[in-house]
Amino acid sequence: RRETTANLVWHSTTVTKEDRQQRAGHKSCVIWFTGLSGAGKSTLANAVEYELHQRGLASYVLDGDNIRLGLNRGLGFGAEDRKENIRRIGEVAKLFVDAGVITLTAFISPFQEDRELARSLVADGEFVEVYVKCSLEECERRDVKGLYQKARAGEISQFTGISSPYEEPAAPELVIESGELSVEESVHTVLDYLKARGII
Ligand code: PPS
Repeated sequence: RRETTANLVWHSTTVTKEDRQQRAGHKSCVIWFTGLSGAGKSTLANAVEYELHQRGLASYVLDGDNIRLGLNRGLGFGAEDRKENIRRIGEVAKLFVDAGVITLTAFISPFQEDRELARSLVADGEFVEVYVKCSLEECERRDVKGLYQKARAGEISQFTGISSPYEEPAAPELVIESGELSVEESVHTVLDYLKARGII
């Protein structure tokens, strides 16, 4: 592949991340939710954001379907496209963290290597990986969008958990068992972690 970065020079900004965090009154970070389709990533990310927003903190949710309908339109679900999907989201999340925002991402992000890349883009302690753990059986039973049924019928190829792998996180900061905890309990677990780490 041709080197396309040869004549580019990174420019530091005059106003820094620390300046922006000081203005916001809190640190910024990425809260990276990962898990099977239907595990509850979006629900939890939105519920956590609601609580952050209520407390007057700067926050933003980057969500799977929305990003794929816009920024990442055209990317599919093969391993290479998923990798590129997550790489771009990691870079966008990094920009949001630089902007001083608590950034919540809700993507299946099935590959350990891709999540590690996203983690490597921000500073130590700025990446909070939350594994929204739910069995395939339970996700399939919920089948909120009817996608599992389509995948079983062969109408969707490379569907995570059915015909494409999901690699469980090796060392996530948090594991939320979405089948066992209520949304409220799950939100508290995330908020307690953010408090304990001095982020909020
Ligand atoms: S990934 O793996 O991180 O790149 O996926 P993501 O960007 O989070 O997109 C997942 C949503 O896309 C829908 N969808 C599929 N998911 C998995 N596999 C296949 N083949 C697929 N086709 C469409 C589905 O609605 C996912 O949304 P969630 O919110 O996870 O249920």
